[in-house]
Amino acid sequence: MSNWDRSNSELITDQDSLTVPAGETTQPSSAFVLPPSFQAHGFHIGNVAIDFPVVQAALSGYSDWPMRVIARRLGAAYTLGEVLLDKFIVQVSKGSKARRYIRTSNEEHPVGAQLMGADPEGFPPAALKLAEAGFDIIDLNFGCPVKKVLGRCCGGFLLSTPRAALEIVGRVRDVLPPHIPLTVKMRRGLDDSQESLDNFFAIFDGAFRLGAAAITVHGRTVRQRYDGPSTWNFLREVKQHAGSRIILGSGDLFTAEDCLNMLIQTGVDGVTAARGAIGNPWIFRQARALAAGQPAEHPSLAEQREVMLEHYRLAEVTYGHHRTSAHMRKFGILGSRMHPRMKEVREDFVAVKTRDQWHAVVEKWYCG
Ligand SMILES: Cc1cc2nc3c(=O)[nH]c(=O)nc-3n(C[C@H](O)[C@H](O)[C@H](O)COP(=O)(O)O)c2cc1C
Repeated sequence: MSNWDRSNSELITDQDSLTVPAGETTQPSSAFVLPPSFQAHGFHIGNVAIDFPVVQAALSGYSDWPMRVIARRLGAAYTLGEVLLDKFIVQVSKGSKARRYIRTSNEEHPVGAQLMGADPEGFPPAALKLAEAGFDIIDLNFGCPVKKVLGRCCGGFLLSTPRAALEIVGRVRDVLPPHIPLTVKMRRGLDDSQESLDNFFAIFDGAFRLGAAAITVHGRTVRQRYDGPSTWNFLREVKQHAGSRIILGSGDLFTAEDCLNMLIQTGVDGVTAARGAIGNPWIFRQARALAAGQPAEHPSLAEQREVMLEHYRLAEVTYGHHRTSAHMRKFGILGSRMHPRMKEVREDFVAVKTRDQWHAVVEKWYCG
């Protein structure tokens, strides 16, 4: 692993957050009924058209090029790459291995890249580089709750310093070409205090005033990390406050049904599937089916096998032979919740150390 890799993903990835409800909760219940008044609409982020309101969230350690391509093929209307540190982005040179972190391809548009940093001067050159690399939208992370990130005054820390957060928004907006929209991802505050709420709205309104095209709100506080529910009522209030400004919601979207329920209950323009999409890229296809009044089909084992093998192939193109089995082990473990024999499949993936072992688990459990 290069220094670049270590600095980016080890700093940011929050392993404690990886609790995905298991088993039956991956499937929308057959009782789901769409309210007659509800219609799923696409929306625009700046000039970028998003054709359906369920999109793939930014996920450090996961939403890389292979995951995004798979999500798009299965119906994600837009995908966001994992958060990237500004100072490392500017160091990525042509031909370096780190280039894989800013890879885009024709079939995945529209695709966004997300930036994190502390220094308002560090963001603009990194944002420009991501735009030049082919990302359609640049997103700023003001939400990451990882201790080391907060200690470096990045991510969720910026929710406590509206002036710095807005300086970052303004500087990045100034430097990006007008056709590249800038967006922001925020948690609902640092904590539950009034000061935190005031800071949230100072940043929220200020960012739109400075030209942000959309804001994604995760309904948990930074202090809350992943404990307790995401407050959807807060998302509803934020959307009412925002009026026609574009808001995406985040938090507790584990099934396609959850995605539609958030749209229905909060009125946000779009929702960002995060943990619910790891190992379950079918969530996007299922959401499209439910929105069309059709049943959300669970993928057959044969289809799960085909998609898993393709995901592995794309990951191997990206990371090479040696790193891929460890990377794809994570997807196998979390994807096992889609399998009727979840516990045994999960145990087998946990034991995987090599490429051959990973493929043997797939052949053992997914051949129908
Ligand atoms: C492993 C993991 C990595 C994440 N990485 C990012 C990230 O890079 N950028 C970001 O804005 N949010 C990140 N998040 C937060 C998610 O995008 C999302 O807001 C959060 O998980 C709440 O949604 P959920 O409850 O439906 O999972 C991450 C979450 C997890 C679990």
